[in-house]
Amino acid sequence: MTSSSDNRARRAHPTRARRVVVGVSGSIAAYKAPSVIRSLRAAGHEVRTVPTPAALRFIGAPALAAVTGAPVQSGVFEDPAAVAHVETGEWAELVLVAPASADLLARAAAGRADDLLTATLLTTTAPVVMAPAMHTQMWNHPATRENVATLRRRGVTIIDPDSGPLTGTGYGAGRLPEPEQIIARALSVLADGSSNGDLAGRHIVVSAGGTREPLDPVRYLGNRSSGRQGGAVAAAAAARGARVTLVSAHVESNVLDELPPQVQVVAVSTALQLRDAVRAAAADADAVVMAAAVADYRPADVAGFKLKKRLLDTSVRPDEGAAGPTITLVENPDILAELVTDPPRRDDRTVLVVGFAAETGDAHGDVLAHGVVKARRKGADLLAVNAVGADRGFGDVPNAVVVLDASGQEVARAQGTKREVADALVALISDRLRSSMDRQ
Ligand code: C5P
Repeated sequence: MTSSSDNRARRAHPTRARRVVVGVSGSIAAYKAPSVIRSLRAAGHEVRTVPTPAALRFIGAPALAAVTGAPVQSGVFEDPAAVAHVETGEWAELVLVAPASADLLARAAAGRADDLLTATLLTTTAPVVMAPAMHTQMWNHPATRENVATLRRRGVTIIDPDSGPLTGTGYGAGRLPEPEQIIARALSVLADGSSNGDLAGRHIVVSAGGTREPLDPVRYLGNRSSGRQGGAVAAAAAARGARVTLVSAHVESNVLDELPPQVQVVAVSTALQLRDAVRAAAADADAVVMAAAVADYRPADVAGFKLKKRLLDTSVRPDEGAAGPTITLVENPDILAELVTDPPRRDDRTVLVVGFAAETGDAHGDVLAHGVVKARRKGADLLAVNAVGADRGFGDVPNAVVVLDASGQEVARAQGTKREVADALVALISDRLRSSMDRQ
């Protein structure tokens, strides 16, 4: 973890030092555990480290003891009179297992107590956060999926692993997230008890802002989206314990500054970049909220140099008001509709797809009538329809939405600040995710 993320951690949780048990299990990613421990201590927290016997085959007890600043214990038989599992479980204000191997997840789900870490998991009443790391095949195996679902049902926060190169030649989901992400998540749990938040263990992807479609290196076609509604949805989801990825197109200057530290921001510019970033992040997401104003079209040709007025079209006459050059546009993909028809999630779980529809109403129908048509056409699970115009919808102004389902049926209404609208929408998302889990 870098010193800037240490600082971020301190800023978010300035005073309260907490007691954290860091469990380390037998995965090659155990070599990252010292960074997690060091960062927690740098943020002012007290740490006790409990490696499993398998973890100690990957990383030595002296290294863990050195970064912890205290001896580490792995079994329950070293000093039975001390009843270490009960003492450690009661001492903890948070238990963070990083990495959590497939075997550790299985033993925890089964309620086994064959080492100090699993025994501590049974005695503690503190929130538990686990960061799994394993090969993709193991992560996707039905046994692991069931163990993860069981632990989540019991209130354990399970951080979805990252995708990328794995040990050996493998590539895919299963990497331990960067220590700073684990720390940010663990600290958010410490700060507001959000492991008990109803989105704990969930990954929500939000897009925000307006895309810019370049004409040449200095000009673009853009729109007036401020990114405020998307930023508010990201903050609302994080407040309920979700891991949040915000794919940010162009947003007003302070939107990103106001986000909680645990929101991961991916910056993009064009619709095509936004599509790639959303689909990549959605591969392990539970829900995608498309709040970005995506350009429907982009210029067919992008000049590699600044276009000159007279070079655009030699037939242009110099008279003011005369017809100008013609820009040929090609259609961009509809990212939202594509998420429905071609879901990017890598395993067999479904992604909840949520869109926004900014409407003005016209001679063919009012805002809601257009919204209903759009809901049916796009097929998103939820579509928040709002009225926009010169003085409403854009920027730091109140918002009002009618939420429709894929058949165009009204599900809910919300109005107020963008954060209040975001809170209502995120509550709906949480309900939908919970009921889909109950059906599984
Ligand atoms: O059709 P319209 O642009 O009004 O639809 C708005 C919804 O569709 C928003 O959720 C927006 O993010 C999404 N959208 C998209 N790809 C496009 C255009 C819009 O995902 N090319």
